[in-house]
Amino acid sequence: MRLNFERSCRSGPAAERISTFAALHPIYASFYHTGAVLSRRAALQQPESRLTPSTVVLKTEGLTKSFMGFVAVQDVSFTLHEGHIHAVIGPNGAGKTTFFNLLTKFLQPTSGRILYKGDDITGLKPAQIARRGVVRSFQISATFPHLTVLENVRIALQRKLGTMYHFWQSERSLTVLDDRARELLAQVGLESFADLEAVELPYGRKRALEIATTLALDPELILLDEPTQGMGHEDIDRVKALIKRVAKGRTVLMVEHNMSVVSDISDRITVLQRGQVLAEGPYAEVSQDPRVIEAYLGSGH
Ligand SMILES: Nc1ncnc2c1ncn2[C@@H]1O[C@H](COP(=O)(O)OP(=O)(O)OP(=O)(O)O)[C@@H](O)[C@H]1O
Ligand SMILES: [Mg+2]
Repeated sequence: MRLNFERSCRSGPAAERISTFAALHPIYASFYHTGAVLSRRAALQQPESRLTPSTVVLKTEGLTKSFMGFVAVQDVSFTLHEGHIHAVIGPNGAGKTTFFNLLTKFLQPTSGRILYKGDDITGLKPAQIARRGVVRSFQISATFPHLTVLENVRIALQRKLGTMYHFWQSERSLTVLDDRARELLAQVGLESFADLEAVELPYGRKRALEIATTLALDPELILLDEPTQGMGHEDIDRVKALIKRVAKGRTVLMVEHNMSVVSDISDRITVLQRGQVLAEGPYAEVSQDPRVIEAYLGSGH
């Protein structure tokens, strides 16, 4: 069984990206190849929204990004509701990362608008939206490898406070920060790793540290890019539970390839294909949408 988009780019860099990707994401690959399993899962698992959709936190209107004439994200109008865990999925090259980078302000759109709680944030910089409570989870590489786990979280707390005032420079406030840092480590299950250098953490635990440093910034909306990338089963389950836990009282938007994560914890899913929204809704609905199955499985079978 071949994917449509795989057929159209069997050689060259795109094909290389697809095969590398399939090797890196076995569960995603199995999603490609098991339409029946997908439908069965969908019938069995009817994830219900944890909250009734109410307030719109983030909205895009006609969001478009071109790279020298190539349209990677095209006219995407998207709505994110408060309290939801919302996953963005789609085949390779669908525009997920580009869309994510637009939302996190790492890229400027060619056209369209991004509204956060009704305010136009299209022209703002990442630090400016972070101050408003929109925080992109930092990449693992952004942690300081030779500082301890506790020190990494403390620095994140200092960054947050540093934008407001400098009381943290006193001895006493350092203790206060340590207490808060330990609380955050407990939230992500890292309390027993507090004094270990970050570089020594097992891979799956590094993501928990990254989430703790994100929580230190007290986000209302957390944006996660492939939170379970490169992880084994056990770590995936832990990160899945962790995302659910930290999502309480917050909104989470994630780009995620692992369908077990998407189906288990998402309230809503947006499927992108060739830069456009192909489908949107709860997993049970979206996974049975013939257009989505077609996009993932191709039609030649
Ligand atoms: N900086 C860039 N310059 C030119 N083209 C780009 C750039 N960034 C992305 N693209 C192209 O835009 C399209 C969407 O890429 P993007 O990385 O957003 O897809 P994706 O859905 O994240 O894919 P994957 O599942 O492989 O991570 C691809 O065809 C890609 O080659
Ligand atoms: Mg990507």
